[in-house]
Amino acid sequence: MILVTGATGTVGSLVVSALRSQGREVRAMVRKSTSAPASWDEGVHPVVADFEDAASLDAAVAGVEAVYLLVGVDPRMAEHECQVIDAAVRSGGRPKVVLHAAAGVDLRPEGVRFVAAHVTAFDHLQASGLEWTVLAPGGFFQGFLGMAGSVKAGSIALPAGAAAVSYVDAADIAEVAAHVLTTDGHTGRVYTVTGPQALTHTEIADQLGDVAGRAVNYLAATADQARAALLAAGLDEWRVDGLIELYGLYAAGHASKVSDAVPVLLGRPARTFAEFAAANGAVFRSS
Ligand SMILES: NC(=O)c1ccc[n+]([C@@H]2O[C@H](COP(=O)([O-])OP(=O)(O)OC[C@H]3O[C@@H](n4cnc5c(N)ncnc54)[C@H](OP(=O)(O)O)[C@@H]3O)[C@@H](O)[C@H]2O)c1
Repeated sequence: MILVTGATGTVGSLVVSALRSQGREVRAMVRKSTSAPASWDEGVHPVVADFEDAASLDAAVAGVEAVYLLVGVDPRMAEHECQVIDAAVRSGGRPKVVLHAAAGVDLRPEGVRFVAAHVTAFDHLQASGLEWTVLAPGGFFQGFLGMAGSVKAGSIALPAGAAAVSYVDAADIAEVAAHVLTTDGHTGRVYTVTGPQALTHTEIADQLGDVAGRAVNYLAATADQARAALLAAGLDEWRVDGLIELYGLYAAGHASKVSDAVPVLLGRPARTFAEFAAANGAVFRSS
């Protein structure tokens, strides 16, 4: 039995599917029993637990052989990750823990709060005595689905400068996760997981334009412009500042490295952004 936390989210739901397609039994952590999707079959066993509730985490990790540890972006995300690690230690069953972090976690960049949280969890995991592996994905292709309205209006504005970024498909992250959870030889490894190429946001806008059937321009926003737009869209200040920090890292060229984790571990090329855009063309096209 493998525990997947964050099982209702973008990556976690795909990890559940990837493990099920291998015939693995999955314990899928949900916050509410009503959150379990109808698509989960009899091999997915929902467990109701909350990262803020240690007793619920004890029940979630009891008896599992491995944990895919993914938390959502939250001011307490480091504590959430550490709580699951502590529960895994308390269980006494020594499950192996695959920590879903973020690209750059091994480089410990200063002043990027989302990555800093994963660094804290990584240190805690290393000190735990458990067998561990870290997946450190780049930005998800799926983040662009939330920009569909802007694409339809003909532009995307981000504070990412002119640098190229090696975004990755969440489905590839999930397949790498399922592989690492179910095969040996990954203990003590940090796998940076990226797409097959680094693209500038102008190139991304062009590819979105191809599937949207209209010209789409990339506008390099300043941090202040982006902050104002994100706050106006309803995001809280902590999250907005975190995103600005992350895009600053991108703009400085620190997210352009392409890793070979997908081809080496899965024996096939990573999905391209063009494939992702084509598969989601209907989302980006005006009806
Ligand atoms: N987005 C990117 O481009 C990117 C790139 C690299 C790394 N990452 C990392 O990826 C992670 C986010 O992955 P994602 O986008 O797949 O997440 P997501 O879609 O936001 O899903 C978060 C999951 O965590 C669950 N959750 C949140 N708070 C919880 C709590 N207190 N107790 C129990 N469950 C809780 C959510 O459950 P509910 O359904 O109940 O809310 C959901 O299942 C973050 O750690 C982030 O740093 C993201």
